[in-house]
Amino acid sequence: MSSHKEIKKVTTHTLLQLKTQGSPISMITAYDYSFARLFDTAGVDAILVGDSASNVMAGHETTLPITLDQMIYHAQCVVRGVHRSLVVVDLPFGSYQSNPDIAVASSIRIMKETGGHAIKLEGGEEVIDSIRRIVSAGIPVMGHLGLTPQSIYKFGTYTVRAKEEAEAEKLKRDALLLQEAGCFALALEKIPAQLAGTVSRSLNIPTIGIGAGPECDGQVLVMHDMLGINNEFKPRFLRQYLDLENQVTSAVQTYIRDVKSRNFPNQQESY
Ligand code: KIV
Repeated sequence: MSSHKEIKKVTTHTLLQLKTQGSPISMITAYDYSFARLFDTAGVDAILVGDSASNVMAGHETTLPITLDQMIYHAQCVVRGVHRSLVVVDLPFGSYQSNPDIAVASSIRIMKETGGHAIKLEGGEEVIDSIRRIVSAGIPVMGHLGLTPQSIYKFGTYTVRAKEEAEAEKLKRDALLLQEAGCFALALEKIPAQLAGTVSRSLNIPTIGIGAGPECDGQVLVMHDMLGINNEFKPRFLRQYLDLENQVTSAVQTYIRDVKSRNFPNQQESY
């Protein structure tokens, strides 16, 4: 008999069950082993290896520059820290838009090389053939509608999407299409709360919102935002649970003072 306590892993089916039970799903982004380990141990349902890595890890202005190889590296690190949570990996810009064959090949690389459990990609009707192909290759797909940062140069701004009737109607149609194509969940980013509620109620699959109000079936936040690593980014939808920018700065300043004053290391800290 194994001495290890059995870990109940979160699967795409678990997320569906949580929706059915009316129990909200928690998701957070991670990009490395150490934070993924903490989030998994804390009990988060799902971890997203987001292409927001392009911004928060690499310092780019947009998500466009990050490559498939770089996403694979981040996902490999995250997966090593996770025992229980579902790990979803973003397909980066350029790795799926050109045609379904490329989309399937990119998704297969992610599944094979990282050990992640699912992929996420942005868009509705425009990428529906790719989603069907990826799903039929046995790979779980999470959709992403509303503000889709890979299309930032088309939108021109990061403001709330689908406030106008026509865009809201397209989003509702796209959500149903994504469900029919076999997506197991749908991220809704920065859209009116009422629209997100309507979409969530119209679907059997769970919606996971970011800036999409309380009626989504779950919520996702970028770890750097919710931990307050960069206090310059404070959108209305963000709840900041820590102020790491100030805490880390002050801890490192204390360390510098201790080194400069020869207060560190002391005798107990020496061999
Ligand atoms: O890349 C990311 O972090 C995301 C979330 C904002 C949903 O896609």
